[in-house]
Amino acid sequence: MPDLSQETPYADGKILKQVTDGVGIITFNNPDKRNAMSLEMWEGFGEALTALRDDDAVRVVILRGAGGKAFVSGADISQFEKVRHNAAASEEYGRRSAAQRALLADYPKPTIACIQGFCLGGGMQLAMLADIRISAHDSQFGIPAAKLGIAYGYDGLKHLVSLVGPSWARLLMYTGMRIDSTEALRIGLVERVIPDEQLWGETMAIAITIAQNAPLAIKAAKITIAQVLKDESARDMDAVKAIGTACMDSSDFREGRQAFMEKRKPQFSGK
Ligand code: COA
Repeated sequence: MPDLSQETPYADGKILKQVTDGVGIITFNNPDKRNAMSLEMWEGFGEALTALRDDDAVRVVILRGAGGKAFVSGADISQFEKVRHNAAASEEYGRRSAAQRALLADYPKPTIACIQGFCLGGGMQLAMLADIRISAHDSQFGIPAAKLGIAYGYDGLKHLVSLVGPSWARLLMYTGMRIDSTEALRIGLVERVIPDEQLWGETMAIAITIAQNAPLAIKAAKITIAQVLKDESARDMDAVKAIGTACMDSSDFREGRQAFMEKRKPQFSGK
């Protein structure tokens, strides 16, 4: 687990940020409410994401929940009466929280959701926006929008459908049911399920592997996969070409092939 003394607080400490070994870590830290997200937390999350995006020492970002019982249990329902009670209020609420999610959707560095416990509603949206989802055995996933009378929105459903397909998306949305990590793995909602006590170590090991690989090659993969997922008419093939050229002309490509020939570990600079 990260050393809490090294963490920078946002949103009154309900969002924490840390950097270790080239890995940025954002912790949702409201365990008494199962890490339910208030608007202040959404905004603190955006600030932490921005700080890690602009920190050259950071090559990959992990999102995690504090307390062991939840990743994020969704939006903080206790705020709804005040900030999300009708369509107009909901639009303003949605605009402010969506602005922070947009930062994650367009994030230039790889992101990993490390999920232990409940991952519900807006927590699912966060997890689905991450590039990779690693889950503990005891996690539970669901989108209880139909139990609350909420419309989940286009972006969240787009990601759900692209991960699990339209039929599972319908089953999850119509029933509001929760599924366990075995089922989440089977339907493609998460990529790996790890015993609870090994989750953090395994997630960090994947993050450190990414942090030590060539940043431009990872950026090329991230940009290209994002374009593959777009409609053909919306694809930015110039961006794919530009990052391909940057990669093949990079000193890291030279370092990569030299290190292979010299049978040593490469030291990549991102240039
Ligand atoms: N918003 C606000 N508070 C929440 C919350 C949320 N999304 N999720 C949990 N909490 C609070 C509970 O109200 C409770 O507060 P209390 O101690 O003051 O009573 C505390 O967190 C612990 O929750 P509890 O239900 O007692 O824990 P649990 O382990 O039995 O169940 C959940 C955890 C997450 C399954 C359950 O709390 C739940 O279903 N939460 C709502 C999830 C949801 O609908 N999310 C979508 C929101 S759009």
